[in-house]
Amino acid sequence: MSGKAVLAYSGGLDTSISIKWIKEKYGMDVVAVLVDCGQPEDLKEIYVKALKIGAIKSVIVDAKDEFIKNYIFPSIKANLKYEKKYPLATALARPLIAKKLVDIARKEGANAVAHGCTAKGNDQVRFDVGIRSLAPELKIIAPQREWIISREEALEYAKKNNIEVSVTKKSPYSIDENLWGRSVECGILEDPWNEPPDDIYKWSKITKKDRENEYIEIGFENGIPVSLNNKNISPAEIIKSLNETAGSYGIGRIDMIENRLVGIKSREIYESPAAEVLIESHMQLESLILDRELVHYKYGLEEKFAELVYYGLWFTPLKDCLCAFMDKSQDFVTGKVRIKFEKKHFKIVGRKSDYSLYDMGLATYDKSDKFDPSHSESFIKLWGYTYEILAKKGRINGK
Ligand code: ARG
Repeated sequence: MSGKAVLAYSGGLDTSISIKWIKEKYGMDVVAVLVDCGQPEDLKEIYVKALKIGAIKSVIVDAKDEFIKNYIFPSIKANLKYEKKYPLATALARPLIAKKLVDIARKEGANAVAHGCTAKGNDQVRFDVGIRSLAPELKIIAPQREWIISREEALEYAKKNNIEVSVTKKSPYSIDENLWGRSVECGILEDPWNEPPDDIYKWSKITKKDRENEYIEIGFENGIPVSLNNKNISPAEIIKSLNETAGSYGIGRIDMIENRLVGIKSREIYESPAAEVLIESHMQLESLILDRELVHYKYGLEEKFAELVYYGLWFTPLKDCLCAFMDKSQDFVTGKVRIKFEKKHFKIVGRKSDYSLYDMGLATYDKSDKFDPSHSESFIKLWGYTYEILAKKGRINGK
């Protein structure tokens, strides 16, 4: 086989050895594509590295704005967390990277797209299904799935081919980063009983002391963050600033056992300071503004949406419909949230909005109370009728 393959290149071990292997195995030239979703690496350096290893072309795509607008905004609106914990940073970036690969494959006249995912993970599913949904005609090459080698052997292969890698045999973590979060797996973390060593954390290193509590305010407009401490700044800057400030308190660490789509349980460590603060703030603002029925119904759809993202089903009609629902639900989600940062955690301490449904006259227990207690009795009478009837028929199990 010959032709051209467009490879999602990260500069890491797996994708680096893939450049050589694709040429060896398929006789294909490799175009390395670096999709910038806000990972902190030096992309210029990685760009050059791809060429040094043997890629015929290297391309950097700045996808940060698109990532925020089309992937992070929907996740804030829908409070997306997989299994109630993981804000989906890695999972959200995959369909966007797949889309960029397809765009470049078409531009370059390539007949294949390649990625460095292993056969055990979720990312292969997200790439494959994403690519097939956008361009079923493209062949998909996944070297780490076709060429089963251990991490140690991969390091050996790299050494033999003069490929530099930052991973050493002593700290073999697999790390994925973008502006929504950092995911860490492998190494001693694979034993769920092991406490994560402090050196795996990068975004949430505690530099603040207990005494240095701090208050911040986030303003939302139609479910989207638009201001920080009463200053209108771009959502990108809000996310960056929150990752830094919340991170410095040690906020945003998640240690979980997660159910992968491929049926395996895995131990994952995440650092997502901005995502944690923004999703919680957004949820609290929604509690003030949205009516009970909408909030409760939305919970169910949020869970479905998070699952769909995790399962790699981004380019689907269901996602479009869920997004439409979430967008509509945000018509009045405009207001402010006040947050207190403390060591290792944060609290929402205040919320306000012109669209608040909170009625002080109804809620208060003091003498300004406007609530008419006579309404309650009749309401409860109707509410409980069914159970009274069941009781009379002896059909209530009173245990
Ligand atoms: N378990 C997470 C997910 O499926 C994170 C995967 C992280 N990938 C990595 N190369 N470390 O979304």
